[in-house]
Amino acid sequence: MILADVMDYREAARRRIPQFLFDYIDGGAFAETTLRDNIARLQDVRLRQRVLTGADGVSLAGTLLGRTVKMPVALAPVGMAGLNARRGEVQAARAAEAQGVPFCLSTVGACSIEEVRAGVQTPPWFQLYVTRDRGFMRDMVARAHAAGSETLFLTVDMPSPGPRYRDKRSGLSGGTPLQRQLMRIAQVVTRPAWAFDVGLLGGPHTIGHVSTAVGAGAGIDDYWSWMASNFDASVTWDDAEEIRALWPGQMVIKGILDPEDAREAAKRGFDGVVVSNHGGRQLDGTLAAIDALGPIAEAVGDRMAVLMDGGIRSGLDVLRAMASGADGVLLGRAWVYGLAADGQRGVEGVLSLIAAEMRVAMTLVGVNRLDQIGPHLLVTQTGSK
Ligand code: FNR
Repeated sequence: MILADVMDYREAARRRIPQFLFDYIDGGAFAETTLRDNIARLQDVRLRQRVLTGADGVSLAGTLLGRTVKMPVALAPVGMAGLNARRGEVQAARAAEAQGVPFCLSTVGACSIEEVRAGVQTPPWFQLYVTRDRGFMRDMVARAHAAGSETLFLTVDMPSPGPRYRDKRSGLSGGTPLQRQLMRIAQVVTRPAWAFDVGLLGGPHTIGHVSTAVGAGAGIDDYWSWMASNFDASVTWDDAEEIRALWPGQMVIKGILDPEDAREAAKRGFDGVVVSNHGGRQLDGTLAAIDALGPIAEAVGDRMAVLMDGGIRSGLDVLRAMASGADGVLLGRAWVYGLAADGQRGVEGVLSLIAAEMRVAMTLVGVNRLDQIGPHLLVTQTGSK
């Protein structure tokens, strides 16, 4: 099929992978209001069209958390993403490297930090969940450091996993073990190309770092129950500071929606925040990420890096987020759709599409460098802000 925009990659992914995996990527929590809002509210951001500006030769180059990047975009940590293609996170990290953007590996990725590191020149960023098993957590921090990772993202918006009803219905997490098994088998047999690609027919699988904790050959059910029992709602800002003490590099707090929390992160000396509602997978009915961004950028933007994610599906959306105060954005589902559609090539396809869209969008608002992007590019329905 023709892959003209990110939503075409989504459709290609839907056709290629089993339904339980697609629903896991695509879905959100509760009634999925925030998932829909993230996208809809971004579309509501209006930009000023400026003409005859001579803004030729657009450059997307810049820095993101101290790293030189070809565009102000990074691949967000996505748990189990690697199940969508053979050794999936390695393929995604290679795509990110080829396109000059950072890749952030999830604590619950399918490939380990060592495996991803071995597949690329540039060490990946690493995302950490505070697990009840603190030994596992400290081990993860040490392994990420040993792998050369410079930046740790501490995800704080998942003290308890939000209810994902699509996962219950699809056979990923609901029903009895036998029901789950049968539903998944039924879905996998309709996707033989995927099953062959990921080597499902070829024997036991490891599921990343979690396999270290639950034992080699852990299956998806082991993974799921380990995750469910390991989220820790007792975590506080002081715990975050303790992790900071274990981490010599930069540390970013991911999952901030409130300016008060952003100020706390700045006060405690963290290097940045990701304004995020976890792609609408946690608290449903909260602010859309783009709506939370402006006040947070205003509160702490001069003291720390302010990244944003949630609903970014095009290069135009990247421009909208940056005009609203972000120093850069993370792509979540967009890159995973690419991976599920066509492996490394799919992720590269998504990234080059976003770069091309961003270039055009910048030309149309009359800027050709990132430092010219700001709130002056926004317009209200009645005129410029
Ligand atoms: C996520 N996200 C996420 N975040 C994180 O810090 N650790 C993780 O393991 C995961 N896992 C995960 C799985 C899946 C399937 C999705 C879709 C998302 C959240 C992710 O990093 C990011 O915040 C959102 O995906 C951004 O929203 P969009 O771009 O998907 O709309």
